[in-house]
Amino acid sequence: MPGIVIVGVQWGDEGKGKATDLLGDRTDWVVKFNGGNNAGHTVVIGDEKYALHLLPSGILSPGVNAVIGNGVVVDLEVLFAEIEALNSRGIDTSRLRVSANAHIITHYHRTLDKVTERFLGKRMIGTTGRGIGPTYADKINRVGIRVQDLFDEKILRQKVEGALEQKNHLLLKVYNRRAITCDEVVDELLAYTDRLRPLVADTSLLLNDALDAGDVVVFEGGQATMLDIDHGTYPFVTSSSATAGGASTGSGVGPNRLDRIVGIVKAYTTRVGSGPFPTELHDEQGEWLRKRGFEFGTTTGRARRVGWYDAPITRYATRINGITDLVLTKLDILTGLDEIPVCVAYDVDGERFDEVPVNQTDFHHSVPVYELLPGWQEDISGVRVFEDLPQAAQDYVLALEAMSGTRVSVIGVGPARDGVIVRHDLV
Ligand code: GDP
Ligand code: IMO
Ligand code: MG
Repeated sequence: MPGIVIVGVQWGDEGKGKATDLLGDRTDWVVKFNGGNNAGHTVVIGDEKYALHLLPSGILSPGVNAVIGNGVVVDLEVLFAEIEALNSRGIDTSRLRVSANAHIITHYHRTLDKVTERFLGKRMIGTTGRGIGPTYADKINRVGIRVQDLFDEKILRQKVEGALEQKNHLLLKVYNRRAITCDEVVDELLAYTDRLRPLVADTSLLLNDALDAGDVVVFEGGQATMLDIDHGTYPFVTSSSATAGGASTGSGVGPNRLDRIVGIVKAYTTRVGSGPFPTELHDEQGEWLRKRGFEFGTTTGRARRVGWYDAPITRYATRINGITDLVLTKLDILTGLDEIPVCVAYDVDGERFDEVPVNQTDFHHSVPVYELLPGWQEDISGVRVFEDLPQAAQDYVLALEAMSGTRVSVIGVGPARDGVIVRHDLV
């Protein structure tokens, strides 16, 4: 089973980093295929806690070859800061390769991200401010800067000049900011070329060769289905393909080589930034869940919005991604509740919707229809075998499994590497 895709089911922060790390010792390659340093993955190994943004989480496993695929947007300052931080903690990053076709986040992309958000006012997306949207916009507009452009100064200058021509008008006349010079951008980028050169490769070739040789390749998605540019709650989404199809376009590996699609889903729901969220809690129960689940962003430190589990979303994600296995994380956080509400459908102005409504306005108006499942009081963080879970916790998992139509292969009961119950092996 060599090609394994990891995708987020909800609005991110489901525990994808931990899931990738879990596969570490059975993995030969890990490739990040979308997004950039908007992602934040916390991985706990023994007493050590790592926060990763741009690098794939699989880099923490010794011997694993890590790849930043063509679908990723790269902030070079962040790339080298993250590499250095890991090296200083004894993590070997020498096996990292970066696609020559990945796009570069520059100074003007970061500036534009922040000023457009401010300009939107009440309609803001609540982005991470890392320049993600403007960089993908330039890619689609065919005025982006790619990793390979850094090795030809003449081309780089031409491209940056071309991009700035339009952007400086925007910055000056619309956003009332200072213009950015070609020199400052080019100088900043060229400062990284010597360090970047040995990392750059034809990563599509490397990955296809690896699969030919029978290696296990994990495609690590950032963000999640509901944040996907096509399938998420547009416009309150990120700007990349965070779903399983993105694993193919974002890495240069054919879809027929993706054998297993693993959806990571939290036992409740969280979201950072603006946009619809039917099961969101605004009461003290939400406060309890946020504190207990430690739901504060790894990237921006923002308090995450929290709510109950939403079954139609998991069904939707299963469909969009072709999910074969679910990893249900943070079940331990739900310990101590008498009853656990689970959203089974939506009420939209009196009409029942069993699936996520295709019309965004209907989704905004969706009021959850809840089924109450019995809770449990026992600490489950030490449980490693499904049958050892309290009956109510087993029933909760089985109910979610039945609602989604996909098997729950792994259950998370704690943040550490071994805090899992494995029902079916993923590799
Ligand atoms: P990602 O962006 O999907 O990789 O997820 P984040 O790292 O942003 O957020 C998930 C958080 O939950 C991290 O702090 C993990 O250490 C933690 N975590 C993951 N799985 C579990 C679990 O099963 N139980 C508990 N208590 N924490 C978990
Ligand atoms: P991981 O990989 C949660 C959200 C932002 C904002 C929207 C657009 O850790 O799950 P962007 O900066 O991407 O243009 O912001 O998407 N967002 C995330 N929310 N987890 C993430 O990544 C996210 N990456 C982006 O909060 O609402
Ligand atoms: Mg995260």
